[in-house]
Amino acid sequence: MSPTRTFIAKLKEMVGQEVTIKGWVDIRRDHGKLIFIDLRDASGKVQMIALPSHAEAHKLAGTVRPEWVISVSGKVNQRPEKLVNKNEPNGEVELEILSIEVLNEALTPPIDVRSDGKEIGEEARLKYRYLDLRRPRLQKNIRNRHKIIKYIRDFLDKEGFVEIETPNLTKSTPEGSRDFIVPSRISQGKFYALPQSPQQYKQLLMAAGMEKYFQIARCFRDEDTRGDRQPEFTQLDLEMSFVEREEVMALNERLLIDIVKTLYPNKRIQTLPFPRLTYKEAMEKYGSDKPDIRTDKNDPDLLAFEWVIDFPFFEKDDKGGWTFTHNPFSRPQNEHMERLLKKEDISGILTTQYDVVLNGNEIGGGSIRNHQPEALRKVFEIMGHKAEDIERNFGHMLTAFAHGTPPHGGIAWGLDRFVTLLENEPNIREVIAFAKTGDGRDLMMDAPSEVAPEQLLELGIKIAKEK
Ligand code: AMO
Repeated sequence: MSPTRTFIAKLKEMVGQEVTIKGWVDIRRDHGKLIFIDLRDASGKVQMIALPSHAEAHKLAGTVRPEWVISVSGKVNQRPEKLVNKNEPNGEVELEILSIEVLNEALTPPIDVRSDGKEIGEEARLKYRYLDLRRPRLQKNIRNRHKIIKYIRDFLDKEGFVEIETPNLTKSTPEGSRDFIVPSRISQGKFYALPQSPQQYKQLLMAAGMEKYFQIARCFRDEDTRGDRQPEFTQLDLEMSFVEREEVMALNERLLIDIVKTLYPNKRIQTLPFPRLTYKEAMEKYGSDKPDIRTDKNDPDLLAFEWVIDFPFFEKDDKGGWTFTHNPFSRPQNEHMERLLKKEDISGILTTQYDVVLNGNEIGGGSIRNHQPEALRKVFEIMGHKAEDIERNFGHMLTAFAHGTPPHGGIAWGLDRFVTLLENEPNIREVIAFAKTGDGRDLMMDAPSEVAPEQLLELGIKIAKEK
């Protein structure tokens, strides 16, 4: 049995002791007699030294290469005063190598994993993502993302929320994007859709009496990818029963502030409580419904949150009909309910929608919902849906709302976007472990890819001839 492994971060407390550490060769510097190797594990990095007096270890030390995985037994020594490196967490110690075991050799890395990676083309970074993720910047991003998610889970758990998974094989939801569809083998010719968000399920969970739901939910949207968009991305999705708009906003504001204060104490929130802008004010004053209101745009540690409210419920679509601006399941503001029910002055109907914006990026949005079936039906009628289409597409929602569904509302945050901004990264791919390219490809797995003819046959699918 190999000796117990010590994490590198612990070494500074273990001067004088013999330990075994395991990790990746970060760099090797051969000075002939003395060979220095920096070893890296998940907890940190340490300089090791191979002396000619330990002949076998010294010989092996001369052969190891960057990114080899090795196990090293050695003695933790205090560095002489003049060799102390104050900039490194382990800069006061070094490991005198007594023996080395090679656990896995490595080819010469096709990309440098020690730099911040900004000088490397994205194609290469995504193709060798498992190497790219070894760089300290990405290690930090992914680990901090975990801390944020853990903080959210603990916070919401204390507030009485239940984390509930909802299906990924489901039916199209009208959320304004194209669906990814999945063919059914058992029901040939029929398709599931991957959820654009868990919107309908979370409302059905309110019908089910769960009262406070949340989920770290994967969402899928077949849209052109940009810096702040990925075809699959993660939301903090939540929904609450018996609430008004103010309660949902207050809870989310508190959670956002707590995350920043606890996990990013160096950052400063520009204005507390978060300022509120109506859609009209935002458009008139800034020409944007997600204005960047930072007073100093050069300060990387300044966070300017704001709420944008009072959006119009409907807008004209390209064909001259009405469509929803945010979410068809939203409820109009109370004083506008009458207009919805009478289908009057449609452009004047304001929704309960609230968006949360950070430094000019929409990081979340939600609303109070239409929990009364007749009001929801009116929304679809205004959008020109025929009675039978409403029944076919949304019958399950209308039926659920006819079975004692409480008033409810919620929100979803774009978690990737939020983490990106907290980490001062330029795009969301830097905080997603296995991100896709701008045109939606996974270069590491080579997806999307063709499938075997037998698979298509089983699904009853024929590929139309290429044009
Ligand atoms: P919405 O569509 O506004 O609302 O999505 C909520 C938040 O998700 C983020 N987001 C994205 N992030 C990365 N890549 C994408 N392609 C992408 N699309 C959206 C944004 C956005 O603010 N069900 C409703 C929420 C609700 O009403 O409760 C919904 O999905 O930050």
